[in-house]
Amino acid sequence: MPDYAQVITMKIAGISGSPRTNQNSEKLINITLGIAEDRGFEVDRIFLSEHTVAPCTACDVCKDTKRCAIEDDMTPIYPALEDADAIVVASPVYFGCMTAQLKALFDRTRPSRIHGFLLSGKVGGAIAVGGSRNGGQEKTVQAIHDWMHIHGMIVVGDNNHFGGIVHAPAESDVVGMQTVVDTINKICDVLEMIRQR
Ligand SMILES: Cc1cc2nc3c(=O)[nH]c(=O)nc-3n(C[C@H](O)[C@H](O)[C@H](O)COP(=O)(O)O)c2cc1C
Repeated sequence: MPDYAQVITMKIAGISGSPRTNQNSEKLINITLGIAEDRGFEVDRIFLSEHTVAPCTACDVCKDTKRCAIEDDMTPIYPALEDADAIVVASPVYFGCMTAQLKALFDRTRPSRIHGFLLSGKVGGAIAVGGSRNGGQEKTVQAIHDWMHIHGMIVVGDNNHFGGIVHAPAESDVVGMQTVVDTINKICDVLEMIRQR
């Protein structure tokens, strides 16, 4: 008899906050989503090198209309995030925190929050990659977690500490890569626990 709990498809969205194509953050999201696919999850890539998302202007139109007044590449990102069961976010460290591109995306998710907490209950994990060994990766991970907490997401780390902490070039950072692998596996483990309930 099939295990029906196992056949429910769940989706993991991966966001790269880098403006650069095929560099560390995108490679890390490709690796994490590859592991998720191997474990039977659907995946969706959101690479901010491919999208232009303007920052929030606090016009407050979304309070009334439920939609952001800015029409740009954020429009298809809303349903991608809202349809996912988990979100893994990778960001370069820029001056000790996430990139401006990722912060713009985060701020633009306000409509998803104020009209029903549409990201609440999703599982979230974070990865930060810096050019320095101790260049602000932990603070960047924490800032990504803050966004997830404010949306009511279920935030997980790497089953040891806080998430993926990487010193570029990522492929040379063996210890850091293990935190990335452990983070996506923790996300998958929690989704499987939820699915079996
Ligand atoms: C504007 C800027 C600021 C940066 N600030 C930091 C920093 O504070 N700490 C750090 O470790 N690396 C810093 N870096 C280096 C990037 O984090 C590093 O190159 C990272 O690998 C870029 O990610 P990507 O390869 O996914 O684009 C900075 C790079 C830029 C362009």
